[in-house]
Amino acid sequence: MTLAPFRNRRPSPPVDGAADGTAPEKGRPGAFGRRPRAAAGERRRPVLVLNNVTKTFPNGRSALKEVDLVVPEGDFVFLVGQSGAGKSTLIKLLIRDELATEGQVILDGDDLARLPRRKVPNVRRKVGIVFQDFKLLPTKTVRENIAFALEVTGTPRRAIGPAVDRVLALVGLTEQAAQYPSQLSGGEQQRTAIARALVHDPRIVIADEPTGNLDPLISWEILQLLLRINELGVTVMMATHDADVVTALRKRVVALEEGRVIRDEVGGGYHRTT
Ligand SMILES: Nc1ncnc2c1ncn2[C@@H]1O[C@H](COP(=O)(O)OP(=O)(O)OP(=O)(O)O)[C@@H](O)[C@H]1O
Ligand SMILES: [Mg+2]
Repeated sequence: MTLAPFRNRRPSPPVDGAADGTAPEKGRPGAFGRRPRAAAGERRRPVLVLNNVTKTFPNGRSALKEVDLVVPEGDFVFLVGQSGAGKSTLIKLLIRDELATEGQVILDGDDLARLPRRKVPNVRRKVGIVFQDFKLLPTKTVRENIAFALEVTGTPRRAIGPAVDRVLALVGLTEQAAQYPSQLSGGEQQRTAIARALVHDPRIVIADEPTGNLDPLISWEILQLLLRINELGVTVMMATHDADVVTALRKRVVALEEGRVIRDEVGGGYHRTT
């Protein structure tokens, strides 16, 4: 698969190939997009399963109530709901920032509550996370921000450069690699954050209102990028308040209301239409 780098006018090597443009070896680790998409009717393996999940905070506030959710590999899921509906709480459970009070959260086959401590970093690497406020390190360049995500997990130095180059090309920031976050537009900052989320070759990318700080045109660009990443085989879940985007794209929509899933349908709009 050859993809034009995002918003990059100069020709570059195919992003799912090696840095020299040759085809990647079959089964090479760290190569998202090599996962074949399931044919119609074929059961796809779940990346994420929530079984009857309830989250009650110590102050007694129940942010999630009896949530059941299955996200198969390759899905693109919008998570919608009013402020306080539980979207960010659900996301925190997936990255094990919080543990469910009841029920199970299973990521790529691992029950997050039963995970031995030594396996936690391994499971965290399976999730790429993107936030509304980008959360970039201001004293590091674009390249260093992305590389840092690999450095802290002990990736061998020789593997870091090629991995960073690859995601930079994918998000179309090759030319901005040496700039600092303060020298980037909001959209470029968010693309840096997306590159950082992808550099571990995650099983799922979770974006919590990634377009919340961006104007509508740039929001569409970010969305197109997430769609392209999904086409490469990465499962994507995006929490959003952007009704226009959700309605236009006709993807799977999971709607929360006061901590409960009130709707889960493919091709649904932001609001209930019936
Ligand atoms: N640490 C916490 N302690 C107590 N209550 C919390 C905590 N975190 C979240 N809540 C409550 O849980 C509910 C769900 O919050 P959450 O942040 O998941 O909503 P959200 O859907 O992401 O909203 P928004 O669209 O505004 O981001 C809210 O009522 C919130 O006040
Ligand atoms: Mg939130």
